[in-house]
Amino acid sequence: MEEVKRLRVVELLSQKPGSDVLAKGWVRTKRGNKNVSFIALNDGSTIKNIQIVCDAQNFSEELMKDVTTGACIAAWGKLVESQGQGQSVEIQASKIEVYGKADATYPLQKKGHTLEFLREIAHLRPRTNTMGAVLRIRHAMAFAIHSYFNSKGFFYLHTPLITASDCEGAGAMFQVTTMDLNNIPKGENGKVDYSQDFFGRQTSLTVSGQLEGELGAMSLGQIYTFGPTFRAENSNTPRHLAEFWMVEPEVAFNDITDNMNLAEDFIKSLVKYALDNCRDDLQFLNDMFDKELISRLEGVINTEFVRLPYTEGVKILMESGQKFEYPVSWGVDLQSEHERYLVEQHFKRPVILTDYPKDIKAFYMKQNEDGKTVRAMDVLFPKIGEIIGGSEREESLEKLERRVAELNMDTRNLWWYLDTRRFGTAPHSGFGLGFERLLLFVTGMANIRDVIPFPRTPKSAEF
Ligand code: 4AD
Ligand code: MG
Repeated sequence: MEEVKRLRVVELLSQKPGSDVLAKGWVRTKRGNKNVSFIALNDGSTIKNIQIVCDAQNFSEELMKDVTTGACIAAWGKLVESQGQGQSVEIQASKIEVYGKADATYPLQKKGHTLEFLREIAHLRPRTNTMGAVLRIRHAMAFAIHSYFNSKGFFYLHTPLITASDCEGAGAMFQVTTMDLNNIPKGENGKVDYSQDFFGRQTSLTVSGQLEGELGAMSLGQIYTFGPTFRAENSNTPRHLAEFWMVEPEVAFNDITDNMNLAEDFIKSLVKYALDNCRDDLQFLNDMFDKELISRLEGVINTEFVRLPYTEGVKILMESGQKFEYPVSWGVDLQSEHERYLVEQHFKRPVILTDYPKDIKAFYMKQNEDGKTVRAMDVLFPKIGEIIGGSEREESLEKLERRVAELNMDTRNLWWYLDTRRFGTAPHSGFGLGFERLLLFVTGMANIRDVIPFPRTPKSAEF
């Protein structure tokens, strides 16, 4: 009996009754009476629990006392057809071993904790139905991303996390240093002497892998990055993290239309993957949090995204008669309330906004003939606003150098990037998908802190 191979709950639930089985996991609940106990056991492999039935005559009271919510146990027994409702099979237990007890201070005693409370116990919240579902979907989406690009002949390029350049130019970077902050070496001019720092220069955590991604596209043709990125913007919103994961494809010879086609196809294929492969978890989230989740996901797959220049979008917003917290006019950076108005109220489907004013976009974007706008594209989604930001890139060395000078950027850190335009430059395009923003959409969760295991936000780096 001891030699029975342990099966995960997801496997047990799809077995035919009759065999001897072994399950291991954490007790969600135990109920019953003098004669029999019913244990709901979960091991994280699925949202579902397996029920373990323990006849009192076979187990000492002492042992059963330790089988409490949160405890970790192994249960041997026979897989039998379930008498009760809600499951097809259950385990008629013959032996239980308690690996780890959990006393009454275990914080997840009863169901129905608020998401806010669960954030305070992020070390335990993966054991809840909600976080379990979210994390399984998160895994599935990461897998689907690699699978999508691999099937299309993209190469996964690992770009550095420590960098001396500021890709987005937003000045929201975390510095990386080994200098003693209580005794910072200063030069003659009184400024910090970075030549004495670890890398001999000022470095930061990257805000995007794009600049190196472009080098990849200009050699391997089509690449994608998928890694952590860091932003020290002090935005305490349900859509911003200080550490988030970004997916950045970059493709040689793609223009902005190709780029939009790729973005739309990519997102639709990810959503379809979730619907095809994460059904139980999506159904749970749909029932618990957001009754329109699954229909919204199905809607996106079957809808063509609107494609619209920024200028037209601003016109719609200005003529909408809506009262926005931040007023709109040509030239302003759109807020999420504006983006959501276009998507949710006006068009009622995802929108790709293009050709933004150059002054609100990054230096590398391809300049349009009008001298005012650049070939940018933001993909805007219901409930989220911007989910993707990208552009066709400026391939002309002359125009790019002029822009870099206009913005007073330090070219000493960019010489290698400019070299791509000096040697065999080519039209190319790419974009960045915020992985957690995608997960907000796919899971229907309302706060970005609830779609990453250990969120990093201003004043918060516990766990
Ligand atoms: O629009 P962003 O800043 O674009 C870039 O970084 C480009 N270099 C991407 C590229 O063209 N390769 O960021 C891209 C996406 C946003 O659309 C958003 O989904 C997400 O990254 N994002 C964030 N997600 C969570 N927290 C934050 N603080 C984010 N900032 C951006
Ligand atoms: Mg953006």
